[in-house]
Amino acid sequence: MKRKCDLPIGVFDSGVGGLTVMREMIRQLPHEKIIYFGDTARVPYGSKSPNIVVHFSKQITRFLLGKQVKLIVIACNTASALALEALQGQFEIPIIGVVIPGARAAIEATQINKIGVVGTDATVRSGIYTKIIQGMQSNIQVLEKACPLFVPLVEEGFKEHPVTEEVIAHYLASMREAEIDAMILGCTHYPLLRSRIMKYLGEKIQIVNPAYETAMDIKGILAAQNLENNVAMVDTEQYVFYVSDAAEKFQEFANTVMPISVSETKVVNIERY
Ligand code: DGL
Repeated sequence: MKRKCDLPIGVFDSGVGGLTVMREMIRQLPHEKIIYFGDTARVPYGSKSPNIVVHFSKQITRFLLGKQVKLIVIACNTASALALEALQGQFEIPIIGVVIPGARAAIEATQINKIGVVGTDATVRSGIYTKIIQGMQSNIQVLEKACPLFVPLVEEGFKEHPVTEEVIAHYLASMREAEIDAMILGCTHYPLLRSRIMKYLGEKIQIVNPAYETAMDIKGILAAQNLENNVAMVDTEQYVFYVSDAAEKFQEFANTVMPISVSETKVVNIERY
């Protein structure tokens, strides 16, 4: 019989962005099995309403529970912002999002209590980062800015394209002027633009990628609940990828950002769940 610690961790995102969280998990939790689901048929979540994002997130959670995962990671800022509470209220399993770990890391990073947050429209509209940060430390000023064009730029492979520089300047000019000293990349796609963003903002601003802190938190939860898997595995059976559409495009992208080779991606009809 399988022990609970042998079971995989479920990770989900609206598409490819959550791979930035999964790759951090691979670094920090090298012995864990991971099942990734990218909702490529219904991406982006960042322009959708809270109700629909909660509905999608519940479907994906049911799908992952069917794969007998021991913990679920919402590797999407928008779904973490809009659906974490609803999922935690409905399902028994430990579920962790990326917003709280990211907020905590930014509080540690700021020296002048002035933090910038960039994210999707839905994340920024929810005001979640401001609420969580000020709930942890009320004297911190938080500036949030939606950068909706960053996601398609990353998805279309425009990381190095000159147009990306212009878009970064367009969105982040106010952040540069506001003299923040820490900025949260509050969308899972944005770490893929990290060096371009850093170049624009200058070295005085610390860029916080919530993925790192999230992986640390997962490690802590697994240890506290005796759920750590300490047995080394072979890559091919260790990481499994599912999407709701366009598996080939997903896989091509995954192979440009992941530290492992992604050789198979299965398509799931997520509407069934
Ligand atoms: N993964 C989403 C996030 O982190 C960005 C992409 C989308 O809008 O679905 O907010």
